[in-house]
Amino acid sequence: MNPYIRGGIERTQMMQEIAVKNNENTTKTWKFLITNSHCTNLAHGGGFIMNIPVKNNVSWVGKIDWDLRKFHGNELSTHRGSTYNSYLIKEEKAALVDTVWGPFAKEFVKNLSMEIDLQKIDYVIANHGESDHSGALPELMRLIPKTPVYCTANGVKSLKGHYHEDWDFKVVKTGDRLSLGKKELIFIEAPMLHWPDSMFCYLTGDNILFSNDAFGEHLASEFMFNDLVDQSELSYESMKYYANILTPFSALVEKKIKEVLSLNLPVDMICTSHGVIWRNNPKHIIETYLTWANKYKENQITILYDTMWSGTRIMAEHIAKGIASADKSVTVKLFNIGHSDKNDVITEIFKSKGIVFGSPTINKGILTAAASMLEELRGLSFKEKKAAAFGCYGWSGESVQILNERLKAAGFIVVDDGLKMLWNPDAPSRKACFEYGQNLAKKL
Ligand code: FEO
Repeated sequence: MNPYIRGGIERTQMMQEIAVKNNENTTKTWKFLITNSHCTNLAHGGGFIMNIPVKNNVSWVGKIDWDLRKFHGNELSTHRGSTYNSYLIKEEKAALVDTVWGPFAKEFVKNLSMEIDLQKIDYVIANHGESDHSGALPELMRLIPKTPVYCTANGVKSLKGHYHEDWDFKVVKTGDRLSLGKKELIFIEAPMLHWPDSMFCYLTGDNILFSNDAFGEHLASEFMFNDLVDQSELSYESMKYYANILTPFSALVEKKIKEVLSLNLPVDMICTSHGVIWRNNPKHIIETYLTWANKYKENQITILYDTMWSGTRIMAEHIAKGIASADKSVTVKLFNIGHSDKNDVITEIFKSKGIVFGSPTINKGILTAAASMLEELRGLSFKEKKAAAFGCYGWSGESVQILNERLKAAGFIVVDDGLKMLWNPDAPSRKACFEYGQNLAKKL
């Protein structure tokens, strides 16, 4: 069977491995992605043309980062790597949309120079100043210092703040246009999607929306299009990205999407700055975002807890059994947040209609993993999700009250006073946890 046919869809690109003997007479295998007449070195970066044709005179010239496991410092887990998408548009005028993260700056500029004489880049578009997209600008602008950089007013602040350079900034607002010849770029400010400086741009004629972080996902793939990758991975990573990055801005997401739709611009493709290009039914991810932005919840209850000597874990498990026995349709998931990936847990909370949060009492407080998660939840500001608290204790027993207060402060609707148990739950206490769970099934 052709390994590049999956799910009945034949890939339009082909993989090829070439074994090359080097001077030391050892064999090195190079892996290539063949896309029409272009050849992208995947395995070893650098030294080969880095180009994936997108549409007509638009090509991807970014970086696939298979190595990435943490993003935003250590804030966000990226189990499947990511990509930093940069796009080169070669019309009568040439424009470069975004660059890549700083550690890949030299590789990026070298590869870009094989695509185009850098002096022939007429415009640089910086849709967003965060360094995963602007990190190669200093390396690039050192070589083309007079090339204008188009960005929002806040983009100037952000780029100057990061790099302390006084490039030829051209400030644009929503509706401003930049002629590339027969086609134009139209700029659309997108503040708080997800930074104050963020913007989109739209290429007329090809009907491409360059959406920067919006509609992205942290997913490395040698097949850069949404119809070519594993659909369950794409779906999960898109949701994780929204849940962990865009949730606080949901009201703005809805407003901005409606504003873009009201422009009546046909959108054939959405070229994001992370992950795949949405070329197959791009409307789907727009509609999905509208659903996620509207207080999204599924029929799921997530129980998250930390535990010292398993007392709170035993409570969690009996509460879970109680919920499941009272409601056969609800999905119940348990996570020990002391050793679970917090971003995966947040994705589960995003899907949930309610959470049950547990911590034992320590030093008149709660365990640090619980405190850390509550700080995350405060910042994410989920809407219309219900919550309850539980925990065991040996002496003073403040944890449940603290959890209740912090859950309320994080915007959750706390449905009752919670459940606290003295010492390790014995048989009557376990029964009480089970019954508490049965009651919660009706309240959450
Ligand atoms: Fe992908 Fe806000 O940077």
